[in-house]
Amino acid sequence: MCGIIGFVGSQQAAPILLNGLKRLEYRGYDSAGIAVIDNGELIIRRSVGKLSQLDALLAEQPVGGTIGIGHTRWATHGRPSEQNAHPHRSGDVVIVHNGIIENYLALKHRLEAQGYRFDSETDTEVIAHLVAAALTRGRTLAQAVREAAQDLQGSYAIAALSVAEPATIVTTRSGCPLVMAHNEQGSFLASDVTPLLAHSRDVVYLEDGEIGILTPERLAVVDEAGQAVDRPLVRIDWDAEAAEKGGYPDFMVKEIHEQPRVIADTLRGRYRYDSGEADLPDLAMTAEELIHARRIWIVACGTSWHAGLVGKYLFEEMIRKPVQVDIGSEFRYREPMIQKDDLFVAISQSGETADTLEAAREAKKHGARVLAIVNVVGSTLAREADGVIYTRCGPEISVASTKAFTGQVIALYLLALHIGRVRGILSAEEGRWWLDQYLMIPSRVEHILKREADLRSIAERFYTKRNFLYLGRGINYPIALEGALKLKEISYIHAEGYAAGEMKHGPIALIDEEMPVVVLAPRDRLYEKTVNNLMEVRARNAPVIALVTEGDQELAHLAEAVFPIPHVHPLLSPVLFAVALQLLAYHIAVLRGLDVDRPRNLAKCVTVE
Ligand code: AGP
Repeated sequence: MCGIIGFVGSQQAAPILLNGLKRLEYRGYDSAGIAVIDNGELIIRRSVGKLSQLDALLAEQPVGGTIGIGHTRWATHGRPSEQNAHPHRSGDVVIVHNGIIENYLALKHRLEAQGYRFDSETDTEVIAHLVAAALTRGRTLAQAVREAAQDLQGSYAIAALSVAEPATIVTTRSGCPLVMAHNEQGSFLASDVTPLLAHSRDVVYLEDGEIGILTPERLAVVDEAGQAVDRPLVRIDWDAEAAEKGGYPDFMVKEIHEQPRVIADTLRGRYRYDSGEADLPDLAMTAEELIHARRIWIVACGTSWHAGLVGKYLFEEMIRKPVQVDIGSEFRYREPMIQKDDLFVAISQSGETADTLEAAREAKKHGARVLAIVNVVGSTLAREADGVIYTRCGPEISVASTKAFTGQVIALYLLALHIGRVRGILSAEEGRWWLDQYLMIPSRVEHILKREADLRSIAERFYTKRNFLYLGRGINYPIALEGALKLKEISYIHAEGYAAGEMKHGPIALIDEEMPVVVLAPRDRLYEKTVNNLMEVRARNAPVIALVTEGDQELAHLAEAVFPIPHVHPLLSPVLFAVALQLLAYHIAVLRGLDVDRPRNLAKCVTVE
């Protein structure tokens, strides 16, 4: 989710680039930089931290020139630092990049063997050297970028400059957005429309594999074969704020809809299909350490704790490994029996949650190996852990965690596969089978998102209620907890998540016609028991909202509302049920006229005890 900006024309580039980067701040950043060509000289200015640092740097060391590219970095490879900040240079070539290059290590080794020296820890730098290498073979910048792109695997949007062509910016994309515009001042490009709206509302969207060529006079688009493409202008009527939300009314629903990409990105480049293995280079733990880990602990808070609970059921059923799951604020004060060589998994979107951080420190004191599942590269938890699995969600702006939860669960699926293969519990064939299941999840989530209107209709029938009960069994019991938390924190309706089998031990006394009961009823081995619980609820006249496996007609006559969930292996159903419950909570809160992105009393990151 990095931000890219570019300009070539009759105006000074630096102010245009900086203002463009400021419009991209919502995409999150931990460092930023620009590159310009001024009188034939390539000049780069980069800074770590807030954009204001780059602003101050440019005030101290201004740069001229009417062509340049800029970048705000949301780190995926390599910690936030000036050295890892974009733009990245190779000789007289400089590039900025958004995305993830899956095969960067192989390319890096190849380029080092050709004598290229790397200055950063990023995957991006390989692109600069590939373009530079193509230029040494007499290619134009456009040809060089196209040749470099042919070597890349993964997702990218790239913009490149070369001193050899001081009035041309070349751009290309695969899987990441890239938009261009032109006016009387010159030509502009960006990773989304937001920064372009200050210059033009008529934009050109580049498509995967195409090359954009920007000069002061015009924009040109060519396809992979170098043939000119006549790409029509698109009129953007959004205002800048709507553009930051990608046209969605708020960040929460935008982030809910980003989940197919988040799942694909979190899986991207992290498995070897042929051997049915996960590939987690940042894990920093040997096979022996994982094999000999006496116990596995998962500790987190809030929604991240719910992801940890999913992990418990997953590890026990998929790889027969018991897991102790705890809330951060409980673990650290309980004299936990954690020992040397235990594996301690800390899950946190922000990587700054005090209760989780202190729990991880407690675990380290006892000699456990700490693995962080975290979204923010360079966060305190990421830096203090022994190993990391990043969830690659991009910045999660809305206080209610949605895509981060999904990313956390996907990271746990990868970890379970890794441990299962390392411990010999899963064969290569079983590993490939699980990977096939994982790779189907994005499309199944997409299918649910397409049915959002049905969830809005259900919300319209129940948004005035004052209490909800969410019931789930097995691996979907944590999803009942998560669904209730989502509703509580954005609609302020009291909601409880409960193990369905536990309802008869007390909560059933609460049930009446005024209490909607959301029942998660997938066609798994607990289905019949869940149906019994649903009947108990119906017998007390409570309205039932049943989430069922697609095609299940049995519950249609038992529930006031039924929402079908695409069929997946039961252990993979939590992500799908969670997405449906996110949308249900979202639409109830919107119908209640509440600010879904900034709920009362809540902070995005709880850095205090
Ligand atoms: C989730 O919707 C909440 N905003 C909250 O429970 C959150 O999950 C919790 O504070 C943990 O935050 P972390 O993932 O950044 O550690």
